[in-house]
Amino acid sequence: MTAGAPVVEVRQLVKRFGGYAAVDGVTLSVGGGEIVGLLGPNGAGKTTLIHMLLGLILPSSGSISIFGLPMPRRRQPILARANFSSAYVQLPLSLTPRQNLTVFGRLYGVKGLAARIDELLERFEIGEMADRPTRALSAGQVSRLNLAKSLLNDPELLLLDEPTASMDPDIADKTRQTIKAIQRERGLAVLYTSHNMREVERLADRVLFLHRGKLVASGSPRDLLARYEREDLEQVFLRIARGG
Ligand SMILES: Nc1ncnc2c1ncn2[C@@H]1O[C@H](COP(=O)(O)OP(=O)(O)O)[C@@H](O)[C@H]1O
Ligand SMILES: [Mg+2]
Repeated sequence: MTAGAPVVEVRQLVKRFGGYAAVDGVTLSVGGGEIVGLLGPNGAGKTTLIHMLLGLILPSSGSISIFGLPMPRRRQPILARANFSSAYVQLPLSLTPRQNLTVFGRLYGVKGLAARIDELLERFEIGEMADRPTRALSAGQVSRLNLAKSLLNDPELLLLDEPTASMDPDIADKTRQTIKAIQRERGLAVLYTSHNMREVERLADRVLFLHRGKLVASGSPRDLLARYEREDLEQVFLRIARGG
């Protein structure tokens, strides 16, 4: 698959916390309609990178361009066309899923909101929980609600930070298929973080390995397996991380 014009372009991005560079000179791009997997162990800098793309924290140096606009200077028009989901962000628990989606849908000014919410609730198989308090949902259902929320504004770019972290394998697999289907239907660009190499192997057109804040390898899953002569990405990563 050939990727379109870059949706995200990051150059020499650095984020220091005190003396420690959590993101240390990262250059990457995400093309239109491309699913890019950002892989790395805990503490590699994945969330820090995503938070800079969202304008939630400021880079120490380097540049970010999204839809050709500079982040954070043009944060508002960028975020109108993008969205984000994380297993670690909590929605108001006393509201029902439908109410939560309604609040966020109104923030985005979504037209035909009630029908859109019904469609998303059904798609992510949380329809039967739609009118119960969000606190009654399982962890996996909450993650799916977060994903539904992230699609409310029909984004062109989706940033997903470990979206399947709290799901059981079956639901995680269904969720991956849903993400893939939506990406195909809408030509959505997706940047997807995970420490689950197998998951990213199945979903991503291209994989970026982040290790101690630096990109240490990139390519399609198939290319990486061939280049490093390994059976799966986990082994490729271990080999790179250990300097083999
Ligand atoms: N606000 C912060 N203050 C200080 N250190 C931080 C902060 N946020 C993240 N870090 C550190 O930056 C590194 C990368 O963290 P993070 O981006 O959360 O990694 P990942 O998402 O890949 O697990 C870790 O060592 C973490 O402790
Ligand atoms: Mg993280």
